[in-house]
Amino acid sequence: MRITFATTLILASITIASPVASTGYCRPGRKTYIANYDDLPFTEPGPNPIGSYEGLTYNIFQVDQYDFFIPPTSGDKWAMAFGGSGNFSDASQVDSSPSARQPHSSFALQSFSFACVSGVPQPECAITVYGYRTAGGSLKRIITYPRLDSGHPVEDYIMNATTFSREWTNLRSVGFSIARADNGGDMFGGLALDDVKYTISSGC
Ligand SMILES: *[C@@H]1O[C@H](CO)[C@@H](O)[C@H](O)[C@H]1NC(C)=O
Ligand SMILES: *[C@@H]1O[C@H](CO)[C@@H](O)[C@H](O)[C@H]1NC(C)=O
Repeated sequence: MRITFATTLILASITIASPVASTGYCRPGRKTYIANYDDLPFTEPGPNPIGSYEGLTYNIFQVDQYDFFIPPTSGDKWAMAFGGSGNFSDASQVDSSPSARQPHSSFALQSFSFACVSGVPQPECAITVYGYRTAGGSLKRIITYPRLDSGHPVEDYIMNATTFSREWTNLRSVGFSIARADNGGDMFGGLALDDVKYTISSGC
């Protein structure tokens, strides 16, 4: 009697300790991604919306392919917001189907490569990066991409890269907008990102 009861308990705890997502149990996890967009299909003419990719859902951003101007830092594709603003969100906050849903999921933004792309010459570009926290509240950081002057070989035009502090954590969404750094005017160009590194955490 006693043995049977103990065995039942052990079996029950094993079942609880190894939950299966499809039966409604939550599986906590943490996974780091470096999104390079190189495996996404690109067709011309577009549009080539990224949609959901590596745990994030993109708005406005499209896959775009190297056109012999500024090269992507890896491979031959990057994410491009042609009008200069766009955002991405934790896919589980966007896709609410039961299989995709991970309650308490959020991400930490770690780094990316970036360029403002409106041709040569182009003015210095101010990129405002917004982080929206799962618990409410937001972060804001402005990074700049240097002005591009004519009279250079094309190899001189490359992406820049930046890293984010540990403050950029518990995020549900990250948004971008660009403007001229000198006077806040329109850049008339796009924002390109590559090798976006982030860690998605899901709790229970
Ligand atoms: C940033 O981009 C500019 C313009 O493409 C380039 O000249 C410069 O070398 C880059 N800086 C770094 C640190 O990559
Ligand atoms: C992301 O972009 C979409 C489409 O423009 C917009 O509706 C939404 O408010 C944006 N979300 C954030 C958090 O910036």
